[in-house]
Amino acid sequence: MNDHTPVKLTVLDLAAMKERHEPIVMVTAYDYPMARIADGAGVDAVLVGDSIGNNVLGFDSTLPVTMDEIATHTRAVSRAATRAFVVGDMPFMSYQPSTRDAVLNAGRLMSEGSADAVKLEGGARSVEAVRAIVGAGIPVMGHIGLTPQSASALGGYKVQGRAAAQARALFDDALALEAAGVFALVLEAIPSLLAAEITQRSGMPTIGIGAGPQCDGQVLVMHDMFGLSDRPPRFAKQYFDMRAAFEAGFKAYRDDVKSGAFPSERHSFKMSDEEASKLALLSLAGTV
Ligand code: KIV
Repeated sequence: MNDHTPVKLTVLDLAAMKERHEPIVMVTAYDYPMARIADGAGVDAVLVGDSIGNNVLGFDSTLPVTMDEIATHTRAVSRAATRAFVVGDMPFMSYQPSTRDAVLNAGRLMSEGSADAVKLEGGARSVEAVRAIVGAGIPVMGHIGLTPQSASALGGYKVQGRAAAQARALFDDALALEAAGVFALVLEAIPSLLAAEITQRSGMPTIGIGAGPQCDGQVLVMHDMFGLSDRPPRFAKQYFDMRAAFEAGFKAYRDDVKSGAFPSERHSFKMSDEEASKLALLSLAGTV
């Protein structure tokens, strides 16, 4: 290691960032090239989210995503991350049935995916799974509020905790998860006031998405940031219109091929005159 080799962030670094009020920057990425760019850009944590279902695999929810898919993509992302902390998202039904399933599947994301931690959804109902995974020595990030794996039970993709009683239940969920050992907590689509309360009254870093500015960090879905999602949520910010850039590139390529402008000499290979004349003789002899 030389002075320029980045040092991989750990759970301790993320905790220290909360302590010194340095915002934690997390983003989703699902493959090696994108993770490499995010890592190089100084993003602190990369989440291989089960949002891969909607954003990459063409499903209309996260539910069909499998352990094999997350493990494979986590493996690719981990190879790219020289500094960023990598979190593998536990797919639907990989931790709900039993604590044994939870530990074995979390273990797969660590061993096959080389993740630094796993993430799972749910408050009180997930506490047992969290305890079991943490007990196996695996760091767990929690996720409450709008939890896409239970969108059907929540009545859709809706802001959570707007009513005081529901906000109180989410607050209790946060503390129960902290007591069970999560090292950080994603807060999705909840009022800023509630997110601020959870952030101030807990020791773990909170990572918000649609949860206002007072969380310890923020996470965005890469496809929302770059204009690649069909239906980006209101809380997402678009930084570039990569859809337009990709479309323009594909159209320019199509036009070049149709018009004969591509490939040009610069993109083609030459043969020596000597070999070309041998080829001509072969073709005269009817060999080619
Ligand atoms: O899967 C995902 O992208 C997520 C984020 C929205 C936090 O869970």
